Amino acid sequence: MGRRLFINSRYNSFKKTISIDGDKSISIRSLLLGSQAYGKTFIENILLSEDIINSINCLKKLGIKIFLKKKNCYIYGKGLNGFDYKKNIVLNAGNSGTFARLILGLLVKSPYSIKLIGDKSLSRRDFERVISPLQKVGVNFEVNKKKTLPLKMIGSPFINPINYYENRGSAQCKSTVMLAALNSPGQTVIRAKKSRDHTENIFKYLGIPIIIKKNKNNDEIKVRGQKLFKSFKYKVPSDPSSCAFFIVLTLLSKNCELKIKNVNVNKSRIGYIEILNKMGAKISVRNTKIKYGEKLADILVKSQSTLKKINCPPNLNSNLIDEFLILFLVAAKANGVSSFSNLGELNKKESPRLKLGSKLLNQLGIKTKLTKDSIKIFGNPGINLRKTIDIKNYYKDHRIFMTSVIAALTFGGKWKISDIDSYKSSFPSFLKIIKKLGYKFKLV
Ligand code: S3P
Repeated sequence: MGRRLFINSRYNSFKKTISIDGDKSISIRSLLLGSQAYGKTFIENILLSEDIINSINCLKKLGIKIFLKKKNCYIYGKGLNGFDYKKNIVLNAGNSGTFARLILGLLVKSPYSIKLIGDKSLSRRDFERVISPLQKVGVNFEVNKKKTLPLKMIGSPFINPINYYENRGSAQCKSTVMLAALNSPGQTVIRAKKSRDHTENIFKYLGIPIIIKKNKNNDEIKVRGQKLFKSFKYKVPSDPSSCAFFIVLTLLSKNCELKIKNVNVNKSRIGYIEILNKMGAKISVRNTKIKYGEKLADILVKSQSTLKKINCPPNLNSNLIDEFLILFLVAAKANGVSSFSNLGELNKKESPRLKLGSKLLNQLGIKTKLTKDSIKIFGNPGINLRKTIDIKNYYKDHRIFMTSVIAALTFGGKWKISDIDSYKSSFPSFLKIIKKLGYKFKLV
């Protein structure tokens, strides 16, 4: 089961400024694009988490030289499709759905079969969503009936630009096709339900020909392929999804204040701040600036003793897809019944998060009403647990672990939480920051 974390909930008050690790989505995209640029790319403040280390190791297996010096990363790209293809390459993406899906988009011209594998959690996730558009591009796959990892793919010298409709609101699907478009002759056209737009932003920053038309519910993206681009300099901003844990910790504590600096506040990522403010929080976003095509700012938050229920609008779902677990926790402490719907995608993450989120709240004595794709949460603002809570994180889901730690620090009670090493896939400084804010815990 791995190591466990023991916490005794105890009153703590803090007033601090912190920095959070680099953004996972942007770190992966900057590595992938650095591998396709000509020359030496320099990325500052890259996230040094397990997902990123696995991504780097896979790119190295494809012949790309990459060096890390603390959070500085140097990538020696050899241009579009400049990989050293060999027979029998096996890429292990570990826990990273983002890397596993996006890299397939860059391998569309591979002359040899490449095997893609991942850990237990990644091996239960759906790959049909990227296999289907990539088959239209010209890629061949060998994969089981469920369309899960391990899979083998072989590219083609004849790549087609396609017309693709992305209707899940998945940035991973959209980005995989955008990366495939880099090697396609002519113009790839994507109509995509709104989702995080970091791939679009970095394409623009690099001068890759891209035209974006923003409609109310979807975006039309046109990418012209086979345009070489030069190596670049980039600085990764802090990950707003990682910040969410500390924003909620502050909000649900008493007499606390927190400032988080240089956070990525791209609109497609901070839907949760909009929701929390609607629930009565007063989170402010200050000193906004644009750097390397992304919006950054400092975030300020204070504890808030009364919070009200939310009826979360489903059109925001893809803007807060990674924050639902932590929002469920806030709903559990709010006045009234909150509801979240159209959440089928949430059960397709590193674990079935909708089901497990509900189970976690039930363990705390919070009533929920769960369906296949929705949840109602009956808030209990006065909750103060006096029992022992044992969280078995069977799927080793990083966000289940971190949400449980925040619950342990704000709901009372004695807690045992497994599997502690999971948080390292996305947020390696998580426990260090918990300590810095004055909390005590034991790892056994
Ligand atoms: C990501 C997109 C989202 C998100 C994941 C990162 C990305 O997944 O959950 O953590 O970097 O593109 P989906 O595209 O499957 O919604």
